[in-house]
Amino acid sequence: MTAHSSRDRNGISRRNFVSLLAASGSATLLGQKGLAFESPVPLPQTPTIPDEAFWRSVREQFVMPTDVSVINAANLCPSSIPALNAMYENTKDIDGDPSFQNRGKMGQGKVNTRKILADYLHVTPEEIIITRNTSEGNNLVSSGVELSANDEVIIFGDNHPSNNVAWKEKSKRFGFTVTEIEVVRPHPGFDYYLEVVDKAITSRTKLLSFTQQTNTFGDVFPAKELCQLAHSRGVLSLVDGAQSFGVMNVDLSDMQPDFYTGSAHKWPAGPKETGVLYINARAHEQIWPSIYSAGRGDVGISRTFESFGQRDEPAIIGFGEALKFQQKIGMQVIQDRAQELSQSLMEQIQSINGFKLITSRDTTESLSVVVFETGSLDARKLYSALYENERIGVAGRPKGLRISPHFYNLHSEIDRTVAALKHYAAVGV
Ligand SMILES: Cc1ncc(COP(=O)(O)O)c(C=O)c1O
Repeated sequence: MTAHSSRDRNGISRRNFVSLLAASGSATLLGQKGLAFESPVPLPQTPTIPDEAFWRSVREQFVMPTDVSVINAANLCPSSIPALNAMYENTKDIDGDPSFQNRGKMGQGKVNTRKILADYLHVTPEEIIITRNTSEGNNLVSSGVELSANDEVIIFGDNHPSNNVAWKEKSKRFGFTVTEIEVVRPHPGFDYYLEVVDKAITSRTKLLSFTQQTNTFGDVFPAKELCQLAHSRGVLSLVDGAQSFGVMNVDLSDMQPDFYTGSAHKWPAGPKETGVLYINARAHEQIWPSIYSAGRGDVGISRTFESFGQRDEPAIIGFGEALKFQQKIGMQVIQDRAQELSQSLMEQIQSINGFKLITSRDTTESLSVVVFETGSLDARKLYSALYENERIGVAGRPKGLRISPHFYNLHSEIDRTVAALKHYAAVGV
């Protein structure tokens, strides 16, 4: 179905060829600036009303060829070219001269990324821990908050294993109780979450943990209100931001969680194995470090909490560049774009015979994670056919698929995906 037109006879696009050359050490031969990865067009200033031409130039800031449509941001995003270049250039530097003297400057890179993270999340650098990913952040909280036999933690049934199984396993060791709130479908509305948490809190409750946008059904939770409720009852809050960090215009100074976690390789379109744990200043005395080593952070709680040994500093610097790239476009603009693409996808899926949309179409209840069932069509086969025949990458679900569009995706990719879904719905897979 798909014409692989932008590829040459060897299946390598011109831009990938440039990248391959760079990776083999020929970067200085490339382009005027000698950067490893170059975009054919610079990123324009974001127009007041961004049009598809603008989003095409955003797409050019990624090395993913235009005939590959990976619409799976909830799982893994491609890194933006600014992030790739930062990783490449700094890795080349550090590996060209790994002496203490040459590596000293990498520490400044980490200081900068902490500041960028603080600005991005609207908090202070003193409250930022640079982790490896959301899993690590969630586990640093469940291992670090002091909990004993008389304590209780409230979690939700569709929290990610790093924020569900982790609590249950640790409860066996430390003796605290876990209250799991059942997942209600379809999205029950914000009031439901507030009522059910209000009822679940007891005098023993020490912490509430939930996901801002779930990876399971794309449900958006009322994060600010839940954090407020928890705080008003003397309960700590952990917000898993794996599916909100990098796609929602997150303002932690407004949300006021005690802890918030995220990964760079998801919606921020940054390097793998870098992430963030935010620890609200008011909660600094309530959490113990879990790892003691060399290489601690520079300010605030990072001085005691972020002692994780040797890090991949080029990746941490690339993390900062990925965030700056998004900030240049504008976080609200990115959030709106992801929602617009998802709404278009949902509307079109609803018109496919036999398919059932699971995610809420209410724009306050969902954002950018779309789940649907494929009726009598074998979801596993469909998932494979989409990639093998069309080069469309999505995620499989037991009875359907999950598609999660982001700011590097185009309407043409959504439409191409829907056309392929309609085709298989009509002729089988
Ligand atoms: C809600 C949620 N939390 C945590 C994670 C774990 O993220 P990571 O693998 O980056 O640690 C995921 C991954 O998909 C997720 O969806």
